[in-house]
Amino acid sequence: KCVLGHTRNFVKCGKEGYVMPGSFKKHAQGIYNMQVRPDDVWVITFPRSGTTWMQEMVWLAENNLDFKSAKDIPLYKRFPMAEITSQIPDIAFELIKLNFLNLKSFQGLNEAVKVPSWKSLDKAPSPRFIKTHLPLSMLPPNLLNTARVVYVARDPRDVAVSYYYLHKMIAKSLMRSNFSHFWEAFRRDLLPWTPIVSHTNEAWTKRHHPNLHFVFYEDMLKDLPKEIGNVCKFLNRQYSETEINLLANHLSFKSMQKNKNVNNTVNGDDSIQFVRKGEAGGWQTHFDEKMQLQAEEFLIARLKGLDLSYPSFP
Ligand code: A3P
Repeated sequence: KCVLGHTRNFVKCGKEGYVMPGSFKKHAQGIYNMQVRPDDVWVITFPRSGTTWMQEMVWLAENNLDFKSAKDIPLYKRFPMAEITSQIPDIAFELIKLNFLNLKSFQGLNEAVKVPSWKSLDKAPSPRFIKTHLPLSMLPPNLLNTARVVYVARDPRDVAVSYYYLHKMIAKSLMRSNFSHFWEAFRRDLLPWTPIVSHTNEAWTKRHHPNLHFVFYEDMLKDLPKEIGNVCKFLNRQYSETEINLLANHLSFKSMQKNKNVNNTVNGDDSIQFVRKGEAGGWQTHFDEKMQLQAEEFLIARLKGLDLSYPSFP
């Protein structure tokens, strides 16, 4: 259920009040009622948590390391997103109102991503690979009992920084906000798909479900071959050590950044890349002392009473 959000064009959905653009109201029910298939593989994340990285890993693991097709077909076609693209203008509108975007950047945003929606996924051949930033509670209730799901979580402070650069990339220099302004909106749950900790906690509480594989971005950074091995085990795919190393090479930051099929840098401007920095803890150079304290308070408050903690916090 979605109700009016903090501004006219935003809605808040579910009991956690996830922020979505107004147009999502029309699609919430459709997504919730999507027909899940037993051979689906879903990758669920809060934006900027390593979605693309995991998608490429899952797709290749499930497709016998078909590097050739991975090179020929863009990831957004192999692994489309469930939420509908028509939300993008709404999101832009809201960001303009929050004074993040200049109206001129709207056109760029509108054309930025053209991906199939949940409706076309209904007709897509099996097996389907589906990406979503929606939390489990907004997805079909039988999802976990039917399909396999991978959830990637990341330190919210690094997510905030990465999310900021994503907006900058899309809006280029037209974005008015600086990071501290953006952080304020992030911690106050004003941005699409927030609140982040509730989002992650939903998956965390289901982490022992046999159809859910929960992984932290930071652990992928620490030991990629090991995490590839865990994902392959979850997917019931067997690869030799040499093959896993080949995949790890393909998935290395440098190789992903060079790979136009996954590095979705919008507007052809290379100054900010979609596959941008690939670090843990980079937030420290973006938060001044006051913001660092705020972030700590934010995390303590949001994690209170939960069993969830991040490898990098506390
Ligand atoms: P940064 O902006 O911090 O660099 P998503 O795909 O969910 O939007 O996540 C994007 C983030 O994942 C970006 O974070 C991006 O650089 C990072 N990422 C993508 N591929 C990566 C890789 N191979 N190694 C490390 N980080 C990667």
